[in-house]
Amino acid sequence: MPPSGITDAAAKGVKLDRYASGGALLLRRAASGKLVSASSHLLFRATVLATLALVFLFTLHYPSLLSRSFHLSSTTSSSASAQHSHRSLLMSSSPSASAAGTYSGAKWEEEIRRGARPARDGGISVLVTGAAGFVGTHCSLALKARGDGVLGLDNFNAYYDPALKRARQALLASRGVLILDADINDALLLAKLFDVAAFTHVLHLAAQAGVRYAMEAPQTYVASNVAGLVSVFEAAAKHADPQPAIVWASSSSVYGLNTDAPFSEDHRTDRPASLYAATKKAGEAIAHAYNHIYGLSLTGLRFFTVYGPWGRPDMAYFSFARAIVAGEPITLFADARRDFTYIDDVVRGCLGALDTAGRSTGSARTGKKTGPAPLRVYNLGNTSPVPVTRMVAILEKLLGKKANKRVVTMPSNGDVPFTHANVSHAAHDFGYRPTTSLEAGLRHFVDWFVDYYKLDDVKIANAKPADNKPAKKKKKMTASS
Ligand SMILES: NC(=O)c1ccc[n+]([C@@H]2O[C@H](COP(=O)([O-])OP(=O)(O)OC[C@H]3O[C@@H](n4cnc5c(N)ncnc54)[C@H](O)[C@@H]3O)[C@@H](O)[C@H]2O)c1
Repeated sequence: MPPSGITDAAAKGVKLDRYASGGALLLRRAASGKLVSASSHLLFRATVLATLALVFLFTLHYPSLLSRSFHLSSTTSSSASAQHSHRSLLMSSSPSASAAGTYSGAKWEEEIRRGARPARDGGISVLVTGAAGFVGTHCSLALKARGDGVLGLDNFNAYYDPALKRARQALLASRGVLILDADINDALLLAKLFDVAAFTHVLHLAAQAGVRYAMEAPQTYVASNVAGLVSVFEAAAKHADPQPAIVWASSSSVYGLNTDAPFSEDHRTDRPASLYAATKKAGEAIAHAYNHIYGLSLTGLRFFTVYGPWGRPDMAYFSFARAIVAGEPITLFADARRDFTYIDDVVRGCLGALDTAGRSTGSARTGKKTGPAPLRVYNLGNTSPVPVTRMVAILEKLLGKKANKRVVTMPSNGDVPFTHANVSHAAHDFGYRPTTSLEAGLRHFVDWFVDYYKLDDVKIANAKPADNKPAKKKKKMTASS
């Protein structure tokens, strides 16, 4: 409805000029009352009222139109799936989006307890966040295989093909591991999980990964890697009794512009080269605070370029393999070297870190700690950096096809020239020793890749697994394959 007083104003041509300048001539004529008949006067009034009503409605809706056009323009620089991921992460952090209502009931609680219960004497009970992710899937398989209790949680966001995450979920389900479809920012659900099951450990791997995507969707990094991390620590500190020990994924990217090599945990990490790195570094500072205040046992693992079967399509080795098969060009950064670390070596490191984590010393009931709890950080790398050009040469050989290479200078938008891990602390504390060469690891990857995408006759233009299900395995997939 138009505001009161506007009808009166309509009778006065001078005032109406303000609202409908396009009809100024008509208005002035109407105001004079000399040139128009009574019927056209009425018609005029109706037209003016309709115009005013439209202006009023447009004003009411203007903010939503504005925000919609903002979203549309931002999709031009990022994929539709990335946008989906961005929105779902931000939306899911609101309490109203809690999955705690969906996940409830005695039957559901029993299922959670059954999943979390170890099947061996002395086994641990682990909540794995990011369980449908690359590292999360392999760690969950390995924990389950040795008789530990495992419950997974993942929000299945579309940062990369969610069908791959669902396929990993199906693989885990076939081994008796359940993954809840939920966000780590869902505080209600996390509190409920700690209430229902006595997790001894949390393996926290859920995060927004990727260095360059941080320029497109910075808020997703804050939502998952900072707010989400705090959400997990809060739930563990204040809702779990006794508190679990937490092992979580930091990243080699925290070394940023550090040039001392090999990278040691004692080196500087205060010069991140990307927002991703900055959120991981922030996570290490947040871990310090939760350890100090609440006595949480916290271990951060700095992974170095992890690769292997069921890997991440956004990572270079994976996207290069797709491009080589499809005959598409690949862009390489000249002189870039990476300490490529095979997934099975990383899994052994994760399990070693869990097994040696030491207890948390705080109490959810009193909010006090009884003494200092372990606070640790470890490099999990391969200790031998390889030029990215060499990685491509191995892929070419394994795929039987030459890459169409374009070598460019590395831009300063997140990537660092080289990574190189010193793993002596992890070796000393839990016997971490990477054993897989890049040649052997990439062979395992290519075997899986060809099988998963059904590439026996190597055609991949838009490689997608048929009906989004995992390909029938030639051999049984285990964490150590
Ligand atoms: N793969 C590597 O080379 C590498 C290197 C350094 C650090 N890391 C870290 O290791 C961890 C695992 O990496 P990955 O390679 O398996 O990545 P990934 O993307 O495959 O796995 C992360 C999983 O977390 C889920 N997730 C993201 N945000 C979430 C949220 N808010 N709530 C619930 N689930 C969410 C995603 O859906 C995904 O399945 C990440 O923390 C990553 O930053 C990985």
